[in-house]
Amino acid sequence: MSGHGNPIPMSSAKCGPLTGTADVPGDKSISHRSLILGAMAVGETRITGLLEGDDVLDTARAMRAFGSEVTDHGGGSWSVHGVGVGGFAEPEGVIDCGNSGTGVRLIMGAMATSPITATFTGDASLNKRPMARVTDPLALFGAQSYGRAGGRLPMTIVGAADPVPVRYTTPMPSAQVKSAVLLAGLNAPGQTVVIEREATRDHSERMLAGFGATITTEDTDEGRVITLTGQPELRPQTIDVPRDPSSAAFPVCAALIVPGSDVLVPNIGLNPTRAGLFTTLREMGADLSYENAREESGEPVADLRARFSPDLKGIEVDPARAASMIDEYPVLSVVAAFAEGATVMRGVAELRVKESDRIEAMASGLRANGVEVEDGPDWWIVHGRGHGAVPGGAICASHLDHRIAMSFMILGMASDKPVSLDDGAPIGTSFPIFEPLMKRLGARITRGDAD
Ligand code: S3P
Repeated sequence: MSGHGNPIPMSSAKCGPLTGTADVPGDKSISHRSLILGAMAVGETRITGLLEGDDVLDTARAMRAFGSEVTDHGGGSWSVHGVGVGGFAEPEGVIDCGNSGTGVRLIMGAMATSPITATFTGDASLNKRPMARVTDPLALFGAQSYGRAGGRLPMTIVGAADPVPVRYTTPMPSAQVKSAVLLAGLNAPGQTVVIEREATRDHSERMLAGFGATITTEDTDEGRVITLTGQPELRPQTIDVPRDPSSAAFPVCAALIVPGSDVLVPNIGLNPTRAGLFTTLREMGADLSYENAREESGEPVADLRARFSPDLKGIEVDPARAASMIDEYPVLSVVAAFAEGATVMRGVAELRVKESDRIEAMASGLRANGVEVEDGPDWWIVHGRGHGAVPGGAICASHLDHRIAMSFMILGMASDKPVSLDDGAPIGTSFPIFEPLMKRLGARITRGDAD
């Protein structure tokens, strides 16, 4: 249950070269899915490398509340004794998903086709986020939902006693919506079909297949058509969670903008539905290479090596790539501030409904630190000042958003004056070791405002 503690003001100052190895934590998306699918399998799933951030810990607590036995064996090693598809018990209390949109939306899907009722809530950020995008398709299965105005949490879902399978085209590119529908489809008879016009991260599809479900994906003129056969018996799995490319983005981007840096970020998941940032950075002229490329637990993995890149150029980011880097735009906008020329980001309306309005949060913080930004409903443009030319010196608001908080800390590492943050506590939701890890590389992050 994140976001309820005291704020932690932080600041980040210009530093010498960042060097060494950055062992970032496990992938957040795969960690949530490991716990949820483990809880829906029959028998014991073993997980290593689980992200032990607040978001995932909230999902672990939720899976216990629905009746599965979830055990922390220490050091990222966990086990889940699943109750089987359709085996969820009715939780006694309210399910608090903290800051996590992924947690709440996937769990709503997983319980929506069982004859149980559950009430969900979250922190001030999550309780502002739209849930109709999930409850609309869940209603087609026969589930009912009762939430606050505008489809906001807290919200009660009454699961369908006699679910019917669904054919659903997602109205926005969202892996959370797709996954909620697929998880609901698990306990519906027959075939549930999800169609997405733009491909989003496909961890659910890969993992459902790994757990033994019959699931196919076909690229058609309509888009990507995913067909799941309902009511399988899911087999427990042994899962080694790859490290999170969205967390790797922070040390990688820091290395590109801090003079003299050379950082290795090993074992990063490079699923093509997630790796758009790295392609974009290379187009901007980043010195970024993949070493030791291989496959682990059904996901492509490599070691990333990022070196200081003095000649970064602003580019027009291909909007077709937006879904594959949707969580990375905040830190990309920081790199863009140190590039020559404008970086244009279009087709990114979804950024306005993340843990915060990420366009607004980054645009106002960048402007306060001397960087010109233009923005509209689904686009923004960062006018780069070039290497060594970002003034810095302002206090930024994190808006209960981990990625906003970390992005401003990266900004401070190469700005003339330190950059401060009102609250770094949200960083714990996805990257609890961010501060010690970045300091070990050479960053100058301190708690409290800059003098
Ligand atoms: C996620 C999907 C994305 C992403 C989020 C994780 C997932 O959200 O922003 O951090 O694990 O399915 P949307 O589905 O809202 O795009």
